[in-house]
Amino acid sequence: MRISLLIPILLLVALVNVAFGQSIGLTVDTTKPGPKIHRHIFGQFAEHLGTGVYEGIWVGKDSKIPNTRGIRNDVVNALRALKVPNVRWPGGCFADEYHWRNGIGQKRGVTLNPTWGGVIEPNTFGTREFMDFLDQIGSEAFLSVNLGSGTVNEAADWIEYITSEQQTDLAKQRAGNGRPAPYKIPFLGIGNESWDCGGNMTPDFYLSQLKMYARFVRNFNPAQSGDQQMLRIAVGPGGGEQRFVDWTETVMKGWKARQWSWDIEGLSLHNYTVINWEKKHSSVDFGEKEYAEILKKTLEINNLLDTHIGIMDKYDPEKKIALVVDEWGAWYAPMPGSNPGFLVQQNSQRDGILAAINLNIFARRADRIRMANIAQMVNVLQAMILTDKEKMVLTPTYHVFKMYVPFQDAAFVPVSFDAGTYGHAGIALPRVDAIAGKDKNGKLWLAVTNLDANRVADIDLKALGMTATSASGETLTAPKVDSINTFDRPRTVAPKPVSARTQNGALILNLPARSVTVVSVD
Ligand code: AHR
Repeated sequence: MRISLLIPILLLVALVNVAFGQSIGLTVDTTKPGPKIHRHIFGQFAEHLGTGVYEGIWVGKDSKIPNTRGIRNDVVNALRALKVPNVRWPGGCFADEYHWRNGIGQKRGVTLNPTWGGVIEPNTFGTREFMDFLDQIGSEAFLSVNLGSGTVNEAADWIEYITSEQQTDLAKQRAGNGRPAPYKIPFLGIGNESWDCGGNMTPDFYLSQLKMYARFVRNFNPAQSGDQQMLRIAVGPGGGEQRFVDWTETVMKGWKARQWSWDIEGLSLHNYTVINWEKKHSSVDFGEKEYAEILKKTLEINNLLDTHIGIMDKYDPEKKIALVVDEWGAWYAPMPGSNPGFLVQQNSQRDGILAAINLNIFARRADRIRMANIAQMVNVLQAMILTDKEKMVLTPTYHVFKMYVPFQDAAFVPVSFDAGTYGHAGIALPRVDAIAGKDKNGKLWLAVTNLDANRVADIDLKALGMTATSASGETLTAPKVDSINTFDRPRTVAPKPVSARTQNGALILNLPARSVTVVSVD
């Protein structure tokens, strides 16, 4: 069909839908602003894994790839646009084998990375380089300390080395390595998956360790007192099974009975969207069935959150402890030909939609979920960015994170709508999903995802407490659910401008099939 004919026909279909009441009514209630959607739920995770750090971030000062002090400029520029609030580093499982002294000074220790491919770890990207990377992208540090194969003393020394202003031996060593002023460490992860790769500990054993790390690993930076205090995040659950229920119970009960000498401010939760760990879905060349299956699976995080937030509420009704979802995202089969230990996967429109759904879920539980970190930032799992030597491409997930920037620190605004149903191959999903927020300038933002792989959704938008006359922003859709961006075709999936039209006094937002849309409402 000729394009010139197609456009008027599509327009007609949209008009008929509205005329016959097939639009979806969506009401935003600006009179009842809720908790802050904390910017830290848009955090990232950069582990020493595959080419996530080496190649993806660090190319070295002598590289032909344009860089600043060894950190690639293209990646930094792309990340700056995301206003990444915090980066979790150096792992992951890697953190429990990381010995920080190998990564400081002129001469670096050359070690191995046994968990991720058994490759050489040159330690050229260490503490100083990580802090420089954060400075370059404008972000904050979330350090995971080694509780598995390290000691309390080693972790305490690391944080003293980084944060002490007073001239201790470690502070002098830092100054000798080129950094006289202390750095800030706003977030400290005390171990990683200690129930599994972090040492396969029982909850009680972990709790004993946690108490010691929480007591002795101190932040000495004088600028980090009061509300700037470093937040200590304990290892939390990684699923809904009984052993994870026991884990959350033990840590929360232990916290409730705590003495003056230790405390935590956060509990972590890990959740990957995987249907079968032995036979993972492909990240490319899949059909609508696999699209629907993965989205169905990702929505199950709601049950997981109900379970663990329920336990937290029992011991901490005042919600002092944040739930920190510091690993989340889709985990697919490794790309054919790649090192299976490098967790290389493509990123399609399905992942953009999956990201939006998860961010919406976190925002709806903003009173408890105050931080999250997608796994991972570059070249690993559900990445923002893929690189190959000097080439770089932005993924659909990147675009969703960028479109959601206005929600960082916005006040949650309730939205009501009849989600309807999108069904395929016996799988039933909500047809649409939405959140709204008011930014610090009072501007109202709305994010609506149309999960339906085939049908356009017309949203009939109403706002209580204001007279909404227009809505405009961006929409991210793609030719197919498995469309991806490649180095040769980097803009197959890219946001396009969108605006609502007014019709008989109504504000109608036309959402393409399989899309994520973010608009400001005026
Ligand atoms: O993100 C990859 C790995 O997944 C992390 O290292 C580990 O914490 C989790 O099992």
